[in-house]
Amino acid sequence: MSHPLTLTLTGAAGQIGYALLFRVASGEAFGPDTPVRVRMLEHPRALKAAAGVALELQDAASRVLLDVDVSSDPRHAFDGADVAVLAGARPRTAGMERADLLEANAGIFGPQGAALNDVAADGVQVLVVGNPANTNTLVVASHAPDVPADRFTALTRLDHNRAVAQVAQRTGAPVADITRVTVWGNHSRTQYPDLRHARVGSRPALDLVGREWADGPFVDTVAQRGGAIIAARGASSVASTATAVLQHEHLRRHDVPGDDWTSAGRFSDGSYGVPEGVVCSFPVVAADGTWQVVPGLDLDTTARARIDASVAELLDERDAVRALGVLGPGAR
Ligand code: NAI
Repeated sequence: MSHPLTLTLTGAAGQIGYALLFRVASGEAFGPDTPVRVRMLEHPRALKAAAGVALELQDAASRVLLDVDVSSDPRHAFDGADVAVLAGARPRTAGMERADLLEANAGIFGPQGAALNDVAADGVQVLVVGNPANTNTLVVASHAPDVPADRFTALTRLDHNRAVAQVAQRTGAPVADITRVTVWGNHSRTQYPDLRHARVGSRPALDLVGREWADGPFVDTVAQRGGAIIAARGASSVASTATAVLQHEHLRRHDVPGDDWTSAGRFSDGSYGVPEGVVCSFPVVAADGTWQVVPGLDLDTTARARIDASVAELLDERDAVRALGVLGPGAR
């Protein structure tokens, strides 16, 4: 058995929490030889439900779970956290303005950032799932000035998986043959799923799927997939999100195999003309447990315009949280 790892999950009584925690208990998240301490952070009104999930987790009789703790206090829940998955967020409700949504979420992610800064393990890695994920990442990191920027990521592996699955369906190729897909930008409808460097086996994906499909129906299907799931299921993507979280964490720790890459939202280092300090989805590979942007990809004018449009939305969101005064002292 290796050294125990502490996982803090926020929104732990929510749908994604319920789908994720039992896969953690089965060893799927960190491997069968890594003991895990689970710390569940919930809003006070959902503490009872979270305690119920904790009872069920005990009943999983997991060989990797060391203990399960439930709290509504971020300073307690993030104490010693090695990995923090932040799924607890305020959803947009009817009639809610964007500024209200950003402010409500800053009220959640700001205090969590401050707590992470003070009590998490030195090497803590933070994955933001709760929407608006990119801007929530900006907010949480701004309140955790002592945690290096490259430890914060926003989940876009689900969008990446959606893109890969569409190419597999279109070409009939196995998923394992599809590599070098990228999702750029915001985890929103402006995201740009990009096949310009993608391959199916050893062939360029564009040769098989056609540029017209790649620039039109493909982009729309991937970017609007969340809405399609809600329309069909009457509820948002849950199990596929949990899968994406597990893959994101696995690849971050073990790197992406072969000459492939994945997608993740991270602070821009200025790569591809994305202004520094914006949390943007990029093509990434893992090095020493953090995500590094894949350098040197050519962007044609279509790709450039799509990326710029999504980055413009991210800059708008950043301006909005700046104007609300909700960024912390460590704004990057
Ligand atoms: P849910 O509504 O079932 O669960 C959210 C949970 O967060 C609730 O249990 C709620 O009590 C909790 N919560 C609220 N305020 C909190 C606080 N201050 N501290 C701790 N917990 C708090 O939602 P679900 O389905 O689990 O989704 C969670 C988030 O993930 C949503 O924001 C959703 O939009 C987002 N999401 C992101 C995806 C991505 O690819 N990045 C994909 C799918 C969902």
